[in-house]
Amino acid sequence: MNGSKNELAEIIAGLKATQKKISPKFFYDERGSQLFDDITRLPEYYLTDTELDIMQSHVAEIAELVGPEASLIEFGSGSSTKTRVLLENLTSLAAYVPVDISEEQLLESARQIREEFPHIEVLPVVADFTRTFDLPSPTVMPLRNIVYFPGSTLGNLEHNDALALLGVMHRVAGADGALLIGVDLQKDPEIISAAYNDSAGVTAEFNLNMLRRINNDFDADFDLDAFEHHAKYDPDKGRVVICLLSSRDQVVHIGGETISIASGERILTEYSHKYTLAGLAAMAEKSGFRVAKVWTDADKLFSVQYLTRD
Ligand code: SAH
Ligand code: AVI
Repeated sequence: MNGSKNELAEIIAGLKATQKKISPKFFYDERGSQLFDDITRLPEYYLTDTELDIMQSHVAEIAELVGPEASLIEFGSGSSTKTRVLLENLTSLAAYVPVDISEEQLLESARQIREEFPHIEVLPVVADFTRTFDLPSPTVMPLRNIVYFPGSTLGNLEHNDALALLGVMHRVAGADGALLIGVDLQKDPEIISAAYNDSAGVTAEFNLNMLRRINNDFDADFDLDAFEHHAKYDPDKGRVVICLLSSRDQVVHIGGETISIASGERILTEYSHKYTLAGLAAMAEKSGFRVAKVWTDADKLFSVQYLTRD
């Protein structure tokens, strides 16, 4: 078994719950991270291109707000694509600290960034950001900490967990710090639905890969042919509900347990919350942040927000 005992216990507890669920953090083995990168290039997946455009349009103002000699601490950095816009434009960065659970992708991205930006100290941290983890100290003492959380990954957490993570970021930012966060906005349900049901089937592959990953890393025996990708936007709750639908009665073995799954039963694998500007501002305030600046695209599909501490 490659995965840890704690992770195995967490997966089993989720599969034994009345509503079966597996945390979206288990999407990201090496193949899952690659599939996510493929998703970001799909025509239907408007999030990445829109956020990148917003960043490119406003990077001078962002650099001004961040100021010199900051430490840039990124949560869920993935392939650090959007980060490059910041690394190219921020003045004399003290350090770049990418934090991600997906070890291979994190270390490879860190290697590439060191090569492209040899003057920046790059200190990757392999960690689950929903649990306690330590951050390294840069060689050069930073003037302030800027937490960066792009991609609307906040939306993959349930409300209370999202508030708790904003609280962690508030502490990491420290007294003079700030949070730069990418947040997807509520919009025409058809646009959202298409982004999670792409015609090439990459999102379906990404969703099913979670079971392959659990088979590989936790010695389970999920039959990938007996599940279907399902994603539906619930406009009342402002979230996409993503699950794996069992196409027959079946049993799965994992960690000495036998899990029965009925035909038509769903395993919830992810929520993807879409926010209103007011809703996000209320969450920010509850976590001790104040929304100091919001940039959006012309169609108000996505937002990048600069949150300061009170
Ligand atoms: N920031 C990138 C990637 C977003 S995908 C972008 O905007 O495109 C979400 C990223 O968060 C993945 O790289 C995944 O490995 C990471 N991630 C998800 N849950 C995590 C967790 N609990 N702890 C640390 N990293 C996590
Ligand atoms: C990483 N996260 C913000 C993505 C999202 O859009 O919620 C994950 C994803 N799931 C399916 N497609 C993309």
